Amino acid sequence: MTGNRKENIIRVLLFGDIIGKTGRQAVKELLPKLIEEKKPDIIGANCENLAGGFGISEKTIKEMFNAGIDFFTSGNHIWDKKEGFELIKREPRILRPANYPEGVPGRGYTILTRDDVRIGIINLQGRKFLSEVDSPFVIGEKIIEKLKKDGINIIIIDFHAEITSEKVALGWYFDGKVSAIVGTHTHVQTADAKILPGGTAYITDLGMCGARDSVIGMKKEIAIERFLKLMPKRFEVAKGALLLNGVIVDIDKNSGKAINIERIWREKE
Ligand SMILES: [Fe+2]
Ligand SMILES: [Fe+2]
Repeated sequence: MTGNRKENIIRVLLFGDIIGKTGRQAVKELLPKLIEEKKPDIIGANCENLAGGFGISEKTIKEMFNAGIDFFTSGNHIWDKKEGFELIKREPRILRPANYPEGVPGRGYTILTRDDVRIGIINLQGRKFLSEVDSPFVIGEKIIEKLKKDGINIIIIDFHAEITSEKVALGWYFDGKVSAIVGTHTHVQTADAKILPGGTAYITDLGMCGARDSVIGMKKEIAIERFLKLMPKRFEVAKGALLLNGVIVDIDKNSGKAINIERIWREKE
């Protein structure tokens, strides 16, 4: 452990959805300084929009592993590129939501090890304005119980969901049972990062890594035209100034409780 942190703390850095090439650029250009400043022990990101804004590819995942991301969660867009299906089957560091039906490729949770500390990572997806997946509350609870039985008390959940109330409710439901619950999917960072009374770090949405001057990572002109004309028009990943969004969570290794959460918002012209 480095810096002035106590020995019993593990520091986790989590990024919101990385959107296409601009998002990958944001990670590559802004992450090194963040690592230098904050010295995280482990870094995760949501990869559902990694390749061209839709899904994942071998090349883009490799690029992000090389940039320092240790693991990936995802969401509804993980299925947008067929290439990703094989990749999530064989790469245990890439998750898809755990509450998809049985038989879907990949896994919804995993255990990673840092300095002899085991960390459980769970990916869940919401049910409002998204596919009719199984209940994230029920499936999440089963996985948490399993991890706890295996002696794992540091658990992080990426809850990929559209509506705020579903995310807030899941936060309360699992408060005290996991170390952190972070929301993804909306691509806009919320200002509600906090430690819940039971010791769970919470934020409704991490935000995104992508083009700052965009509509949730996509070219604003195209997004506006779609709203104006209601005609189909293919989205394109926006370029320009970079935005890097996420949080840093400090977790007590012994208790698994979060002791601090800090929002990360970095820009580069
Ligand atoms: Fe997304
Ligand atoms: Fe999504």
